[in-house]
Amino acid sequence: MQVNVSGLKDIKEGEEVVLNGWLQEIRILKNISFIVLRDHTGTIQITSKPGLTTGYDVLSQMTRETVISVSGNLTRKTQSKSGVEVIAKSIEVLNASKSPLPLGIIDPVSADIETRLTNRFLDLRKPEVAMIFRIESELLWGMRQFFHDSDFVEVHTPKIVAAATEGGADLFPVQYFEKQAYLNQSPQLYKEMLISAGLNRVFEVGPAFRAEKHNTPRHLNEFTSIDIEMGFADHNDAMLMLQEGIKSGIRHLIAHRQEYIASLSQRIDVPEGDFPKITYRDCITKLESQGEIAKFGEDFTPEQLKIIGGEFQGFYFITEWPSSLRAFYTHPKPGDEKVSNSFDLQYREFEITSGAQRVHDPAMLEERLRSKNLNPEDFSFYLNAFRYGMPPHAGWGLGLERLSLIMLNLQNIREAILFPRDRTRITP
Ligand code: 4AD
Ligand code: MG
Repeated sequence: MQVNVSGLKDIKEGEEVVLNGWLQEIRILKNISFIVLRDHTGTIQITSKPGLTTGYDVLSQMTRETVISVSGNLTRKTQSKSGVEVIAKSIEVLNASKSPLPLGIIDPVSADIETRLTNRFLDLRKPEVAMIFRIESELLWGMRQFFHDSDFVEVHTPKIVAAATEGGADLFPVQYFEKQAYLNQSPQLYKEMLISAGLNRVFEVGPAFRAEKHNTPRHLNEFTSIDIEMGFADHNDAMLMLQEGIKSGIRHLIAHRQEYIASLSQRIDVPEGDFPKITYRDCITKLESQGEIAKFGEDFTPEQLKIIGGEFQGFYFITEWPSSLRAFYTHPKPGDEKVSNSFDLQYREFEITSGAQRVHDPAMLEERLRSKNLNPEDFSFYLNAFRYGMPPHAGWGLGLERLSLIMLNLQNIREAILFPRDRTRITP
């Protein structure tokens, strides 16, 4: 019977099993040899003996990370740490690995991040590295389920586009036949158009591209954006949906993958209660009271965000950002138009999400475009959707890798994406 390593616990003493995986370690003694076989569920010690194991004579030529198939009998009468072992009847090489390895899987000294990323397929064989993506997958699954159950439609919008959404400087140009196109910075304009289209609630999980030249542990040039947009809703509705979406993701992870969480060094809990909110202006007051120079209309520095974040346990919202700091589609706060109905979700000094109520009045939207020195004609495909009955609406965009970064306490955002694209890296 073919089984995974994790399935061996349900197998009876003496029963015959077939295991497929990688040869992680091999130790050849005089009349007995030990192999550690690894599959995606764990590792197991395989014992083999001359005369008992077909293939014994070629064991000495087997290199680490060779793909093997082992058949043998399970025994619990063992000295091995796990308490089970397989006595091999045959060991077959399915595909040999070249030697030496550019990156050791079990070497105690961890390689630098560039070597790891260059050999990412090997790096991901380390269970603790693969775990980041297993957890990310579960978080996202829980969030998807929540949005689905909250009447959202999952959509897919174009990534090759004609206009910028988040400001013109950070665009990757694409030669699109005779025309100049760009890689999308955000599904912003498209998800808004789908509100005019009457879908009412949409969400999208997809790539977003930013040609930001800086190379930091928080920035990628291609990241995964989780976006929502809701019709007949404002910024407060959007914030509630974000809070509940994140909680649902974590709840799903804890309920279904306790074994993943057990392998982590830090705790993961569902945040209790509502995420606290602080306005941008109150942040300024707080910073000034601590002797910081913070001017209305300027972004906070990472150091300032550390000070603000120090006041909160976990997630918190910074609301009512200056209109001058936010993109053209952001709705000003009625009666106090220097600020906007916008928010960022923060965790310590890290920005996880930006969102807002959007401008739905086409005249105001044109005006807002002009005030940002953008030409409304370049946005006519988008503005048209506002001229024939656009509901009031709100939404947000959350960087999946930023969420993993803070949940798993990673030092570098490159750890949270399989194949990072940064200032210098486009392979693998
Ligand atoms: O703050 P951003 O630029 O906002 C938007 O894209 C809006 N259209 C969202 C909205 O619906 N109003 O990006 C949203 C999130 C950030 O909070 C961050 O988590 C992530 O996307 N993000 C990045 N993640 C990694 N590397 C980068 N260079 C990122 N830029 C943004
Ligand atoms: Mg932002």
